[in-house]
Amino acid sequence: MDNGTRPLIVAANRLPVRWTDEGWETSPGGLVRALIPLLRESGGTWVGWNGTVGGHVDPFEVEGVSMHPIALDADDVSRYYEGFANNTVWPLYHDAIRDSTFDGAHWQRYRDVNERFAVTLANVAPNNAVVWVHDYHLQLVPGILRRLRPDVAIGWFNHIPFPPLELFQRLPWRSEIIEGLLGADLVGFQRDLGARNFVAAAHQLVNVVGDADDHWLHHDGHSTMVGAFPISIDVDEFEERAAGRETRRRAAAIRARLGDPEVVLLGIDRLDYTKGIGSRLRAVGDLFDSGGLDPHRHVFVQVATPTRDGVDHYAEERHEIERLVGAINGDHARLGYPVVHYLHRTLDLDELVALYRAGDIMLVTPFRDGMNLVAKEYVATRLDDDGVLVLSEFTGAADQLSEAVLVNPHDPHSLTDGISAAVDMHRHDRRARMSAMRATIHRHDVTHWADGFLKTLGAR
Ligand code: F6P
Repeated sequence: MDNGTRPLIVAANRLPVRWTDEGWETSPGGLVRALIPLLRESGGTWVGWNGTVGGHVDPFEVEGVSMHPIALDADDVSRYYEGFANNTVWPLYHDAIRDSTFDGAHWQRYRDVNERFAVTLANVAPNNAVVWVHDYHLQLVPGILRRLRPDVAIGWFNHIPFPPLELFQRLPWRSEIIEGLLGADLVGFQRDLGARNFVAAAHQLVNVVGDADDHWLHHDGHSTMVGAFPISIDVDEFEERAAGRETRRRAAAIRARLGDPEVVLLGIDRLDYTKGIGSRLRAVGDLFDSGGLDPHRHVFVQVATPTRDGVDHYAEERHEIERLVGAINGDHARLGYPVVHYLHRTLDLDELVALYRAGDIMLVTPFRDGMNLVAKEYVATRLDDDGVLVLSEFTGAADQLSEAVLVNPHDPHSLTDGISAAVDMHRHDRRARMSAMRATIHRHDVTHWADGFLKTLGAR
């Protein structure tokens, strides 16, 4: 692979756009902000689903970047997206904390849709292009694309964890997945742990050459490099928004609406069973029961963003969270003063940043998470270096944000001890930890991540 500038093509399940009254615009998010300029400079294309069901959409342009939609019909959505991606792979790769379905019809549709992506990529990629494929929805694309277009450089990055062999090998189609990924020149994971799990699975399940410790795998006349590339956020963007006068006003208004409590505890997650929202609520409830939290001084705000509600596990999780919120408030609220404020909706970015600023303690306690960007976003908005992050050891972010209060979300005592430590932490300690974490994310923002991956792929 050479180091010259080559046209970049990105493939992800979703296109990075949303429909507004003014037409298509790019979706918010660090990944999109990091990749759009690179695509624009190289005249590149983003290939993905536009989120609608059925119907063909012609390619279109947004912010100087060509968007190439992949059409999904209702069966594709139910079998490829909800079925195989989110009811087989997602739970299995997140430590099997929910049962996976293993359904041959879902697998068949996953293969078909991966083929559709690969054929489209083969058609749109200019000679010698770099194709960067994202995430667990598209694990077969590298292998199919390599057969169709041996001239292009192919990278694949997994945004979620890659599981240990003993879980991965439950998958009836495990060898096909590994072979699909080995079609890439570079396979990237959030953590060393994921990279090591992948190398171990490749050695066990297909005929690769290379040491078990070696990050080069040779298979079927092709070599694949494997590495860890922890993703991050656009730190400058979050700092700028947090510094705005309007954001400060909104943060103060939020605290006033909450009754000006001494301490605001905060949880912000997609409503996903991997995020540990229920265990977090149980820990908060236990602390209100035991007096470790005081309804007159402490308030917990939980925002749960709607997601994947066509998958049963998600509907069940919502039901349980809402039951817990009701039970805790039933026991501890006073009229007009709930102790848990719960919002089931998507917030706009400015409201989100205002909430980060209003929160004294951020609870990020997933059972397993590839990275968790909420943790990094909270740190980026703490311009005064105050605030405490309580962070699950089972997130990729914990590798970098070691000054957080690290907790084991499977252990109720670890959760209550961690929250109590955050509530009681001395101001000097809070500042020392937060300033160290802010320095870390400044060194590793999303541009650093994208450059690191693409340079390793030999693309820039
Ligand atoms: O973290 C994995 C991921 O698939 C992201 O790529 C995506 O932004 C998020 O989960 C939400 O998922 P979905 O596209 O299923 O709404």
